[in-house]
Amino acid sequence: MNSSTLIGGHKAGLNTTMRTDKWWIGPLLSLSILTGFLIYATWALIQGDHYWVADTGQGFGGYLSPFFSPVLLVDPSVPGAVPESHAWFGTFPSWWPSFIPASPAVLILMFPAMFRFTCYYYRKTYYRAFTGTPPGCSVGALPQKNYRGETRFLLVQNLHRYALYFAIIFVVILSYDAVQAFFRDGKFGVGVGSIILTLNAIFLACYTFGCHSFRHLIGGSTNKFSCSAARYTAWKGCTKLNEKHMNWAWTSLFWVAGSDVYVRLVSSGVITDYNTWG
Ligand code: FES
Repeated sequence: MNSSTLIGGHKAGLNTTMRTDKWWIGPLLSLSILTGFLIYATWALIQGDHYWVADTGQGFGGYLSPFFSPVLLVDPSVPGAVPESHAWFGTFPSWWPSFIPASPAVLILMFPAMFRFTCYYYRKTYYRAFTGTPPGCSVGALPQKNYRGETRFLLVQNLHRYALYFAIIFVVILSYDAVQAFFRDGKFGVGVGSIILTLNAIFLACYTFGCHSFRHLIGGSTNKFSCSAARYTAWKGCTKLNEKHMNWAWTSLFWVAGSDVYVRLVSSGVITDYNTWG
């Protein structure tokens, strides 16, 4: 037997395997969903409109799409944009290059994108789905002359532990947005959007605080949990989330896109938000 033709007990070559189950469903679904998400998120980013729902836009409250939060700079003339007073640094400057959309999402989406791109779970998923290296356990990989693993360009994956800090900041900001979603012009109430944006913050928190890097951050540098009961409790909670990290990764991905779709449809008048404000 020529061992050079064998990888892990199966013949070499893309998709060759002795597995009899439908192993290809997972990578195919991942490929379809991630591609769909990337197309939609890019389209929404370029549109840069209908990301805000409010009555007068004055005072506390309103629905803000998570794709656009926080709004650092705004073009208030765009339909469905926040008023200038809601943007952290005012309006887009006059020298803003015309080839870059004057969309608040342009300024912020790189941070959550970097966090997801470098996530340990997503790495496994898109390596399998997009590059076939390999497509699944005990399945032949795309033949490569010089396989280098996560070296060279892919060293960028090491940024994950730093991207985590940005992700935590985003959880705080989106939680604030969820609280805002229960108010209109300073008046408390509840709408379908309030529920959607609250669940969005919860799902993103479950994804972020179940991160392997976060788990290491709170529990990885100690050998004696007995010295810190609080830290042990936090580590146990993180471990519970970590065990379902894949589930939180997909749930939060679907929900964040769905939240943008909902706010967009309400803001553009396509659907009505049922709420107690009347
Ligand atoms: S490992 Fe997935 S978010 Fe950190």
